Amino acid sequence: MTRWHLPPSSRAHANRRTHGSNVNDQAATLRVIRGSSDTSPPVVGRQRALAITGGKGGVGKSTIAVNLAVAYATAGARTLLVDTDLGMADLNLLLGVAPNKSLLDALHGAPLDEVVVSAHGIDLLPALNGSYLMANLGSSARQRIFDLIESLATRFDTLVLDIAAGLGPNQIGFAAAAEPIVVVNPEPLSMADAYACLKVLRTEQDVRHAFVIPNRVTSTAQAAEVVGRLAALVSRFLDLELTTLPPVPADPSVPEAGQYGVPLMLHRPDAPAARAIRQIARALDAHHAPDRRTDVARRFWRRTLLASGQGETP
Ligand SMILES: Nc1ncnc2c1ncn2[C@@H]1O[C@H](COP(=O)(O)OP(=O)(O)OP(=O)(O)O)[C@@H](O)[C@H]1O
Ligand SMILES: [Mg+2]
Repeated sequence: MTRWHLPPSSRAHANRRTHGSNVNDQAATLRVIRGSSDTSPPVVGRQRALAITGGKGGVGKSTIAVNLAVAYATAGARTLLVDTDLGMADLNLLLGVAPNKSLLDALHGAPLDEVVVSAHGIDLLPALNGSYLMANLGSSARQRIFDLIESLATRFDTLVLDIAAGLGPNQIGFAAAAEPIVVVNPEPLSMADAYACLKVLRTEQDVRHAFVIPNRVTSTAQAAEVVGRLAALVSRFLDLELTTLPPVPADPSVPEAGQYGVPLMLHRPDAPAARAIRQIARALDAHHAPDRRTDVARRFWRRTLLASGQGETP
């Protein structure tokens, strides 16, 4: 199984595998973290590998992936966004770009420099729209994609993977390769699919920790209810720790930005959903603060960073 690791903050950490340390403490299954004030930027120079997933279609995975990537890039991070929705390339549209090449060309040997496109301060490794072949990759092609991403390690410190809907080997394989962040909406179907996604990540990929983002909520009470119900299920049936990130409100600026092909974060930086996503970026960094690190939080470019001795949090 390929996983990108955040670098260890110390050698002692590197040799310790503690990510299951509180798996028996079901009361600790749900943790809530918040970002610091809205004005403090995300930490620059931090390594991050995030996989935005959720099981269900249309819950806001791509929206959050794009805007989280832009939030980190705006703060100075070198950010690579990967469209792992390989057969239905949504990110091109959200970023308003029309790439000439895609991951399929990269798989056929095209240099990555010719495939990666820059837009709005981030770099995108694009998928291919309407490609049955790409949507149904085998495990060796998937491994090739992992290797291609890994080969970009020295050029980026922040990796955001946008995961397709569904629970197939592509979705679950890519989601488990980084830190899974499950997007959930208030609808019961979304909750059921988010739970299914967590269950498959736990059982098929031995994932012990995931983040959850309530999206399209109309109040903080609704966000708490959504997360509470999901956490109750997880706590009862799964041996997995869930950390709640700040909720993203239902916000008409989100589809509006999509229509313009400009990330919300740049289209309307002060929109409520944009502010929420900046909070999420900070909350993720707070979670990874050296005193709160867990092994599972260190899946990022591990080989490269260990080899080069980089990766300490500034
Ligand atoms: N917080 C929000 N407020 C309002 N609309 C939203 C919000 N989040 C997402 N949307 C809208 O919901 C729709 C689906 O969003 P998005 O494409 O990000 O979902 P997805 O989970 O990536 O979907 P798919 O599974 O098809 O890839 C879009 O029209 C988007 O503008
Ligand atoms: Mg999508």
